[in-house]
Amino acid sequence: MSNPKLQKINGVRGMNDLLPADAQQWTHLENAVRDLTRAYGYELLKTPIVESTPVFQRGIGEVTDIVEKEMYSFEDRLNGEQLTLRPEGTAALVRAVIEHNLLYDGPKRLWYTGPMFRHERPQRGRYRQFHQFGIEALGFAGPDIDAEIILMGQRLWDELGLRGVRLEINSLGQADERAQHRTALIAYFEKNASALDADSQRRLKTNPLRILDSKNPEMQALIEGAPRLLDFLGPESLAHFEAVQDLLKANNVPCKINPRLVRGLDYYNLTVFEWVTDALGAQGTIAGGGRYDPLIERMGGKSAPACGWAMGMERVLELMKVSESLPEATNLCDVFVLHQGGETLRTALVAAEEMRSAGIDVVLFCAPDGQAASFKSQMKKADASGAAYAVIIGPDELARNEAQLKDLRGGEQQRAIPLDGLLGTVIDALVATSE
Ligand code: HAM
Repeated sequence: MSNPKLQKINGVRGMNDLLPADAQQWTHLENAVRDLTRAYGYELLKTPIVESTPVFQRGIGEVTDIVEKEMYSFEDRLNGEQLTLRPEGTAALVRAVIEHNLLYDGPKRLWYTGPMFRHERPQRGRYRQFHQFGIEALGFAGPDIDAEIILMGQRLWDELGLRGVRLEINSLGQADERAQHRTALIAYFEKNASALDADSQRRLKTNPLRILDSKNPEMQALIEGAPRLLDFLGPESLAHFEAVQDLLKANNVPCKINPRLVRGLDYYNLTVFEWVTDALGAQGTIAGGGRYDPLIERMGGKSAPACGWAMGMERVLELMKVSESLPEATNLCDVFVLHQGGETLRTALVAAEEMRSAGIDVVLFCAPDGQAASFKSQMKKADASGAAYAVIIGPDELARNEAQLKDLRGGEQQRAIPLDGLLGTVIDALVATSE
C-alpha cells in the first residue's frame, strides 16, 4: 500500500485556486474596479478576514440563512473567543468605521475587495470561498447617493462589456411600514398555511418577508397574491423611492421594480436592488445591495444613514466570458534571454537586470536541471513566452563582447550587437515594434 503520508492533499470543496491561466482576467477586473472607485472618489478600507462572531450575528441578523446555516465559526483555542470567517463585507466595514470613529468629520465613501466565506452547497457560480468587490457610502441620507452607487455599477458593467444585465429595484420602507406589512403578510399566509412548504412554515414565525424570496415553483402563485410592501409605504418612503428612480431615468439607466426583492440580509431599509442575468443559470445575481440606515446604530455607533452594494467577482468574470468581453491574454515578457551557463549566464543575468531597471519585462532562461540546455530547446521556451525579442549570449558571442538579437514575431534579420549597446538597441527595437 502506498505511504499515506505521501498521498496528495486536495483543496477544500467549494474553495478554488486561481491559476496563472486565469490570473490576467482577474487582474483586469481588479484594475477596472480600482479605476471605478477613483472616478467617484471612494477610498479603500480593508478589514481582517476573521471577525468576532457577534459582528455578523448582530449586523446581518440572527434570522438569516447566512447566520443560521452558512457561517464558518470557531472558537479561538487560546481565549475561547467566538470567531467567524467573514461571510460578507458590510458588517465588518461598519465595525471598523465605528471603532476608528471615521465619521467624526462627515460622511465617507469607501470600498473593499477580498475573499468571503459561506458554507453553501457548491455549484456553478456558488462557492464556499468567493470574492466580493463592494462599495459603501456612509453618512448620506438622500436618494442622490442611492443613485450614485447604482450608476457606479452600471458604469462598471459597461466598462467590462457585460451583456444582458438587468437592474431590479424595490423599497423596503421603514421599520414601522414593514411591521404593518408583516402583520398583513402573516394573516395572508396563515390563511393559506397548508400551501406553505416547510421552510416557509418556519419563516412565517421568524421572518415572513423572506417567504417572498422563495424559489419553490409550487409556492409562486401564493406569493404572487400576497400583500405588497410597496402598498404599505408612507409618503416619505415613496418620495425617496421615486427620487431614486427619477435620477436613474435622468441618466438613462433602465430599472424594473420587483416588489418581491427583499435581500437575504436583515440590515436594509428603503432602496434595495440587484443586478441579475439569465446567462449564468441559477446563480444569476451578479451584485446586490441597498440602503442600510439602521445598521451603524445597531452595531453600537452613533446613528447614521448608509448604503452600498457588493458584486461576486467570480460571477462577473463568468459573465464576461459569456459576453465574450474577456481581454486577450498579454505576453509573459518583452524579451527572453538565452545563454549557455557559466560566464554567459553571469553576463546574461546582468543584462537582464539592466533591462528590467529600464522597465522592460524580461524572462531569463533557467534550466530545470540546473545544467545548460541547447539553444534549440531554449528557443522553444522563448517562442512560447510571447516575447518580441530573444537576446542570445553564447560563448562565441561573449568572446566577441556581443549578443545576438532575434526578432521572434516580425521578419527582422537576426543580428549581432555589442554588449555595451544592448540596452539601447533593445529599447529602440521594442519601441519600433510597438509603433
Ligand atoms: P449579497 O447579496 O449576500 O450581499 O452578496 C453580494 C454578491 O456576492 C451576490 O450578488 C453574488 O454575486 C456574490 N455571492 C454571494 N454569495 C456567493 C457565493 N456563495 N458564491 C459566489 N458568489 C456569491 C452582500 O454581501 C452585502 N454585503 C452587499 C451590500 C453591500 N449591501 C450593502 N452594501
